[in-house]
Amino acid sequence: MSDLRVWDLPVRLFHWALVILVVTSVTTGLTGGNAMSWHERSGVAILALLLFRWGWGFTGSTTARFSDFLNGPRKVIDFLVVVLRNRPAHVAGHNPLGGWMVLFLMLSLTLQATTGLFADDEIFTTGPLAHLVSGSTTSLLTSIHDTNAWVLITLAGIHVAAVLFHLLVRHENLVRAMVSGRKPWPDEQSQPLLRFAAGWLAALLFAISLGVVLATLALLGR
Ligand code: HEM
Ligand code: HEM
Repeated sequence: MSDLRVWDLPVRLFHWALVILVVTSVTTGLTGGNAMSWHERSGVAILALLLFRWGWGFTGSTTARFSDFLNGPRKVIDFLVVVLRNRPAHVAGHNPLGGWMVLFLMLSLTLQATTGLFADDEIFTTGPLAHLVSGSTTSLLTSIHDTNAWVLITLAGIHVAAVLFHLLVRHENLVRAMVSGRKPWPDEQSQPLLRFAAGWLAALLFAISLGVVLATLALLGR
């Protein structure tokens, strides 16, 4: 086995920052009250991270791209057969099933962070853009925010369970790869050709994403 570089630094930073911020957002959201000022801050930071990740999915390194990890049903079924037969599957980036989970997580997170901007708990906290829409739209977006929070928690739970399954049943440590960026790769299997995008491009994209989110809130927020 030799080590293969699979994840770029931007994807790894995105992931671990996202984990910390989602845990913060869920706990502060459920706590309510004074915790809500931190809820808004962490939610807005998630929004900037997501905007960056959507862009990086089209401009970033090979394994960060949606075109790399969103595969048709044939590849998903082939991968499932390999797993059911308990055979090793060496995939450099997200596996064909995990790739779709990443998309669903991204969609649920984006829905959660954007509806939050328009949500209102009718006691303490009003999302910064809620004044732009009617009362009935605010109610609708608030109920989507409340319901989707549980969809997101469920998806994240399945995601962590899948990572544990790989670790305990298939003896593949995907967490270590998400930390170091490297995966063990069998010498007898040819290494995939992976292209790594420049770090400055990620920094620029993140600066633009953060700028767009903060400028929108400064211009349109209450
Ligand atoms: C708050 C809950 C979490 C969310 C919302 C979340 C979300 C995500 C997302 C969006 C990705 C795709 C990364 C990318 O391509 O940019 C991902 C990948 C990954 N996550 Fe998480 N994650 C969460 C918690 C965790 C935890 C607690 C662990 C560790 C136990 C973990 C381990 C991983 C690993 C290993 C991958 C890469 C999977 C692969 O090799 O295909 N995640 N996660
Ligand atoms: C991914 C990011 C986010 C997550 C995971 C999240 C999660 C939650 C949760 C779990 C609740 C409590 C729901 C309940 O009481 O049933 C909540 C409520 C709320 N969130 Fe978020 N939220 C996020 C982003 C945001 C953002 C960006 C804002 C605004 C800047 C926001 C504003 C609110 C407001 C105003 C409420 C109170 C609404 C209510 O009582 O139903 N959230 N959120």
